Amino acid sequence: MKKKIKIAPSILASNFSSLGEEITNISKAGADYIHFDIMDGHFVPNLTFGPDTVKYLRKYSKKTFDVHLMIKPVDKFLIPFIKAGADIISFHPETVKNVDKTIKVIKSYKKKVGLVLNPNIKENKIFPYLNKIDLILVMSVYPGFGGQKFMKSQLKKIEKINEKIKKEKLNIDIEVDGGVNISNAKKIMQAGANILVAGTACFKGGKKFYKKNILNLKKSK
Ligand code: DX5
Ligand code: ZN
Repeated sequence: MKKKIKIAPSILASNFSSLGEEITNISKAGADYIHFDIMDGHFVPNLTFGPDTVKYLRKYSKKTFDVHLMIKPVDKFLIPFIKAGADIISFHPETVKNVDKTIKVIKSYKKKVGLVLNPNIKENKIFPYLNKIDLILVMSVYPGFGGQKFMKSQLKKIEKINEKIKKEKLNIDIEVDGGVNISNAKKIMQAGANILVAGTACFKGGKKFYKKNILNLKKSK
């Protein structure tokens, strides 16, 4: 099944002094999802925002709120993020005690679930959960900061995941996060990804460029 390409701007690269406006502008410019990078200074070496920020930002856009948790522990924050308005919650399997249980909680609120693979984690780590999840988020940088260089080594992993999904006829999105730009977007999509997270590439140049930035990423197909 051919999936539509979606762009998920990471607001980590936006102007934090006017997050609401930034989210409205990037939504109007054609963003499909709004990607929230939630960092705790413990699982990753940086801090960003919590559920309250997501809650206050919810009114600035009707787009899918794609929440990427880079926190440990995860479980006690699930319901706060769901109540704040998250539509998709992705977590790193190594941050929870029982992956099945965490998936179940998110699903019980009828939200989509994603599992995230850091660059050093093999794809088979998440294969046991494939029939329970909606999305696989392949990290193409070590998470913590925006503006890092895309790791080409992750393309093979995307291909392998894509093959597996096709073989098993599963309806799972493949999202890629980290260093995505117009020079590598085509290769990433050819490898099988259908959702591109992009911070720097979407927000560069300021609001006049958002539409063009998003179109350029989609067009590189
Ligand atoms: C990395 C984050 C990414 C990041 C992407 O820790 O998970 O979502 O913000 O930013 P760019 O596109 O600038 O690499
Ligand atoms: Zn992310």
